[in-house]
Amino acid sequence: MRTQVGIVGGGPAGLLLSHLLHLQGIESVVLERRSREDLETTVRAGVLEHGTAGLLNEVGVGERMLREGSVHHGIELRFDGRGHRIDFADLTDGLSITIYGQQEVVKDLIRARLEANGKILFEARAESVEDPDTDSPKIRFLQDGQQEEISCDYVAGCDGSFGVCRTRIPENARTEYTRTYPFGWFGILVEGPPSTEELIYTLHDRGFALVSTRSPEVQRLYFQCDPQDDVEEWPDERIWDELSTRLATHDGWELAGGKIFQKDIVQMRSFVCEPMQHGRLFLAGDAAHIVPPTGAKGMNLAVADIRVLAHALTEFYRSEDMRLLDAYSETCLRRVWRAQRFSWWMTSMLHRFDRSDSFQLKVQQAELDYVTTSRAAATTIAENYVGAALGTSHPL
Ligand code: DHB
Repeated sequence: MRTQVGIVGGGPAGLLLSHLLHLQGIESVVLERRSREDLETTVRAGVLEHGTAGLLNEVGVGERMLREGSVHHGIELRFDGRGHRIDFADLTDGLSITIYGQQEVVKDLIRARLEANGKILFEARAESVEDPDTDSPKIRFLQDGQQEEISCDYVAGCDGSFGVCRTRIPENARTEYTRTYPFGWFGILVEGPPSTEELIYTLHDRGFALVSTRSPEVQRLYFQCDPQDDVEEWPDERIWDELSTRLATHDGWELAGGKIFQKDIVQMRSFVCEPMQHGRLFLAGDAAHIVPPTGAKGMNLAVADIRVLAHALTEFYRSEDMRLLDAYSETCLRRVWRAQRFSWWMTSMLHRFDRSDSFQLKVQQAELDYVTTSRAAATTIAENYVGAALGTSHPL
């Protein structure tokens, strides 16, 4: 099998790349180890930056998002039993975020690719990338128990942090930067009405909590937990008690209940691999970097990488100009580190690292007090959250 761009991974990064290349007349094949059903039903993040939602619209896959997604113009930061609104629209000249689940984005992209006769191989497990230093790299993969190979001009490694692509960059040619956090997020999905119109990020002396949503009928809530916790140790009643305690306000705010239909634990890690390219292999999204979920940057960073990569590949196929491809890693890493800083900072401000460290808690509360009362400080949250902090994004 042969194609122009071989794409390992059918998450938002790989599928979006395939779609953007198709719009430019460039052929690709996506290899995805999971089934279509698995991809379309795994619940992940749900916050799209202003530019991410804008891109999906521009490239013709935003129609359902416009209908079913929900546009938010701010968030609430809650601490010391009081809520404070960060008004994105006011602080960023009208920008907003869109709440729309990652698996919905994936569904829309799969549909768009299949309608255009795009090639996505589901349940195809990439085993290795061969010859990335040559003009003809290959991807070896297993499908239906058969060894297969696809040769291409370029390989896009969109196969997440446990994929095979990153490790294909020789160890002596890459540097990895890691931070693990001493806590996880316990996440639940609830069938029930929303408790609030906008997301609430809370710091309580028992730890962090977040009220988010997926739709008018489905709510997404998280709270800081021990990373070793087991979902079995958390019966529903214990979860509601913990969330209500952490989210309580002096004026008696009440958390709406409902039926919990999924529980999961998210690990918290910051990770960057430099560079994000080696020969004709280019990494994008989680294959190259992981952010802790606070601030919801993960999928947005993946989309930003793909915007850069699709543009660079288009330039190459149009004029054999390699300059944008050569600069790919450097171009992406600037945004990646800015998002790492923001995610690390939000995580540090909103979680308890050591429950016995009351000095640290007081400093975090003072920081929250500052960012919710100084317009300058609030602006730093707003512009990072909506994704405007790096100025204009790349043209397609
Ligand atoms: C959600 C996830 C996040 O990491 C975040 O910061 C806000 C919302 C969510 O899944 O809804």
